[in-house]
Amino acid sequence: QKSAFGIFGIGVMGKSLALNMLNKGISVSVYNRDEGAEKEMVENFLKETENKNVVGFTELKDFVHSLQTPRKILLMVKAGNVVDAVIDSIVPFLEEGDVLIDGGNSHYKDTERRVNALKNKQIHFVGLGVSGGEEGALKGPSLMPGGSEEGYNYVASYLNLIAAKDENGNPCCNYTGPNGAGHFVKMVHNGIEYADMQLLAELYVLLSVTKSYGEISAIFAKWNEGELSSYLLEITTKILLEKEGNSNLLDLILDKAGNKGTGSWSSVSALELGVPTTMKTAAVYARYISSFKETRMQLSKNIKDNIPKENLNINLLKQAYDFARTINLQQGLQLLQSASDEYNWNLNLSEICRIWSSGCIIKSEKIKAFSKILKTSNNLFKSEEILESLYNKEATLPYVIEYALKARISIPCFYEAYNYWVAMTTAQSSANMIQAQRDFFGAHKFQRVDAEQEKMFHHNWSC
Ligand code: 6PG
Repeated sequence: QKSAFGIFGIGVMGKSLALNMLNKGISVSVYNRDEGAEKEMVENFLKETENKNVVGFTELKDFVHSLQTPRKILLMVKAGNVVDAVIDSIVPFLEEGDVLIDGGNSHYKDTERRVNALKNKQIHFVGLGVSGGEEGALKGPSLMPGGSEEGYNYVASYLNLIAAKDENGNPCCNYTGPNGAGHFVKMVHNGIEYADMQLLAELYVLLSVTKSYGEISAIFAKWNEGELSSYLLEITTKILLEKEGNSNLLDLILDKAGNKGTGSWSSVSALELGVPTTMKTAAVYARYISSFKETRMQLSKNIKDNIPKENLNINLLKQAYDFARTINLQQGLQLLQSASDEYNWNLNLSEICRIWSSGCIIKSEKIKAFSKILKTSNNLFKSEEILESLYNKEATLPYVIEYALKARISIPCFYEAYNYWVAMTTAQSSANMIQAQRDFFGAHKFQRVDAEQEKMFHHNWSC
């Protein structure tokens, strides 16, 4: 009896996805190298899954031959060169029509290259964005497949079975688009994740000026009952309550943020595509700045702690948070739209928000609502409802920013949300000065307000 699905790599995520498939009645073959620290992984996995429909391998050829054709193999390995090495090692055992799926956080340009290279060998390559961490992978992740559509069609029913379900019971999984689209969508998901996390971190520091962690947690828990509800807000309420002995665990965690790169990739892509994802980039920089712990400690010695301990108006803070969350999503969706236009991916933003409505790290009531709004237009700035909410709430941002300035607290994401909105709602920007400077020193030419837009002018600067 051959297995329906193969999973290459049973690290944390591979293992959870394999268990998820087994729980859904899908027969699975698993493969892991029999080397170094990975030596006993297959054996241990088989012990854990006793009586389930699973076979384990440490020989690649046997693993591939244990699968029903067309073979469906999910690669759960570290993104980067490892993926290419794994593809090279497995391809000699594959046949035309087999499907390889990369479930790691690969860069979308790598995925595009792999889709095309394998197309020449008649092997379908699917780049699969997977979100939800270990628990999501086990109980139902949000899945963002892209690449070979034919390949996707072979695996769709399996992916639908293991995916999270939306509020109507439909799987949070759908083909996003060709080439690197799936991994691009996952990358933007992570960019949004970074800024959402940073906003919560900023809120926690702002509120810490006058409140205990328990009090902050209670405020967040209240917000989490309504339209601001999100997975990240929920876990933040819990983190604030976690104790170790008499201490808050949070106080024992070093304030240096790590990252695995997808957040900065999202910002680099935005720069390449000319999209201002200012909040995501601010969040990436906040992590980078946090890593300069020694410098921060050194420079902080000259700062006097005479911060006024004033209470923040919680209702205004809540509105500012709502405003910033909307701007973050708007910027992420605009990045998706620009990539879609540039690469002809035909991304469906409403459907992507629906895929993100459950199972993933950024799942929230807001995303559910946006999925509905985006059915009528791909641009949130075309929605009366969104615009009204932003116009109504914008005045709360200066209040929060002023508080942060007085209290000497760095809140780059709130700041960028406001700065972006102000710039976007200003008809006459300062860019006429930039154009004049460019023409002054480099004869780069400028358009004129009193002439046709297509015409470019150079001025003989007299001074
Ligand atoms: C998810 C997450 C996940 C990501 C981690 C770590 O959707 O499940 O986005 O894929 O890899 O959150 O990311 P950083 O180490 O860069 O914070």
